[in-house]
Amino acid sequence: MKFFIDTANLAQIREAQELGILDGVTTNPSLMAKEGIKGEENILKHYKDICEIVDGHVSAEVISTEFNGMISEGEKLAALHPQIVVKIPATKDGIKAIKYFSDNGINTNCTLVFSVGQALLAAKAGATYVSPFVGRLDDISNDGVELIEQIVYLYKTYNFETQVLAASIRHTMHIIQCAEVGADVATCPLNAILGLLKHPLTDSGLQKFLDDYKKVNG
Ligand code: E4P
Repeated sequence: MKFFIDTANLAQIREAQELGILDGVTTNPSLMAKEGIKGEENILKHYKDICEIVDGHVSAEVISTEFNGMISEGEKLAALHPQIVVKIPATKDGIKAIKYFSDNGINTNCTLVFSVGQALLAAKAGATYVSPFVGRLDDISNDGVELIEQIVYLYKTYNFETQVLAASIRHTMHIIQCAEVGADVATCPLNAILGLLKHPLTDSGLQKFLDDYKKVNG
């Protein structure tokens, strides 16, 4: 499973990249706003800065909600850097835009996916990635991981090339469960990625090794 980081924070992106496990980045308008990135010029520059840090795909989301706006915005984003993936919502105009970009060799990430039906249309339209929102489904007492499992099964059955990108990941168990059901990618906050390393037996075991080494070597 690929690991993407779900943030627009450059320091966190650098930290994950330096860990050596990072395959890409996802952003959204809320994450950009959280970093105080505003104005078209600054937003575009920020996407370029992210691309300079990582080697993999960087999802940049359109703001337009109708087809023509999505196309002109997406083309501008895609022209910024070869690593940019145009992120488009799972709406009627969004599906049309994904088809347009797919026909024109531009990578897309279909976002705000909450059902198998949306994922089916995104794949039919040729999306590179589909992003089901695990945490937001769990928030309303639905099973986000179950949706990932259903979409993985569907795509395998019909040999769709669209990659299942588990989004809205909130904690380490989400990452593990998404890996277990076969997600192609999980996009995670940095603390959830680092949380995978935490184990008290690792900490106490390491301490014991260091103490024993010191006893003999001073
Ligand atoms: C990333 O592609 C999504 O926009 C993001 O994971 C949503 O996460 P949230 O539900 O925590 O806002």
